[in-house]
Amino acid sequence: MAGKIYGIDFGTSTIKIYHKNEGIILDEKNVIAIANRKKVIAGGDEAYEMHGKAPANIEVSYPVRNGVIADLANMLELLNYLLNKINVRSNRFSSAEFVVATPSDITEVEKRAFFDLVASSNAKPKSIRMVEKPIADAIGAGLDVTNARGVMVVDIGADTTEISIMSLGGIVISKLVPVGGNRFDESIRTFVKKNYNLVIGDKTAEYIKIQLASALPRDEKSIRVYGRNLVTGLPTEVEVSSAMVYDSIMEYFYTIVDSVKIILERTPPEISADIIDSGIYLTGGSATILGLEELIAKETDLKINICENGSNTVVNGLGRIIEDHNLSSLALTLKQANFS
Ligand SMILES: Nc1ncnc2c1ncn2[C@@H]1O[C@H](COP(=O)(O)OP(=O)(O)OP(=O)(O)O)[C@@H](O)[C@H]1O
Ligand SMILES: [Mg+2]
Repeated sequence: MAGKIYGIDFGTSTIKIYHKNEGIILDEKNVIAIANRKKVIAGGDEAYEMHGKAPANIEVSYPVRNGVIADLANMLELLNYLLNKINVRSNRFSSAEFVVATPSDITEVEKRAFFDLVASSNAKPKSIRMVEKPIADAIGAGLDVTNARGVMVVDIGADTTEISIMSLGGIVISKLVPVGGNRFDESIRTFVKKNYNLVIGDKTAEYIKIQLASALPRDEKSIRVYGRNLVTGLPTEVEVSSAMVYDSIMEYFYTIVDSVKIILERTPPEISADIIDSGIYLTGGSATILGLEELIAKETDLKINICENGSNTVVNGLGRIIEDHNLSSLALTLKQANFS
């Protein structure tokens, strides 16, 4: 592939854009802030800063939910806002080609929505091609998916966990499970509210998770956080422990483990042999949670490989597909993807 080529990963929590020869040129929260139901006042990280703090006339939202475009109008506004932001000095998008990653286990209508979104954006792309997200993920994790050796990738993101088996450049099985970091945060919020009568914001819940979450019981650790006391209505500080965080989110780790086991049961035996040999690759921003590797290894009896910077594996994989002409056939036109 030659010329101006961009790869986009529309994640639930972050949107990332890769430019051929330049690397990742955009990595921002996939959030939009709209005032009075019409005017876009911020997008990306700037809008995320307003999350949980905005007055009633400003709506801060995530247009991608559960890995699919839940709010097409706002996603288009946000995409145009961010494209405009990185296009300040140059006309970088004229006659550009785009390669978009889409989850595998979604409907054709949902996949097509990613295409239509980019097609109707202000970038006015010359062409758009689609890559199955697990394929980009595996390549970004440094795996070769084009040969006959089967690989298994489990991407634990913000709203989703995508479990996939790949071989010969294609998806053998893929399942999108609606569990990820956001569910952990919500559970922590609910638990803190129920046990301490304390209302905390999304960002505080995420902070607690990053500091204390573990997929296995571990040595007690605690941190102090602020919230609003439900009874007195006053700002209050409480101490939250790792045991409490474990209790509130452990069921989700077992949902992930059970889904991994179901996929393994459905895997053709020849591929199972490859996976026994190379193990499972964990990607996504939530893959680094303490003890997760150990828990999945214990429950599946397989070796677990955690990918460094798991939040970027999909966009880095798109980058490799864009830059390495041996991989360019992995990016499909609408017709090739069979939903023209
Ligand atoms: N150190 C950490 N410990 C625990 N969770 C983390 C850590 N760093 C990031 N996360 C979580 O990772 C999630 C974001 O992961 P990622 O960037 O892979 O999501 P995404 O691609 O936007 O979402 P999805 O793939 O579900 O559409 C968030 O829920 C975030 O809280
Ligand atoms: Mg993701």
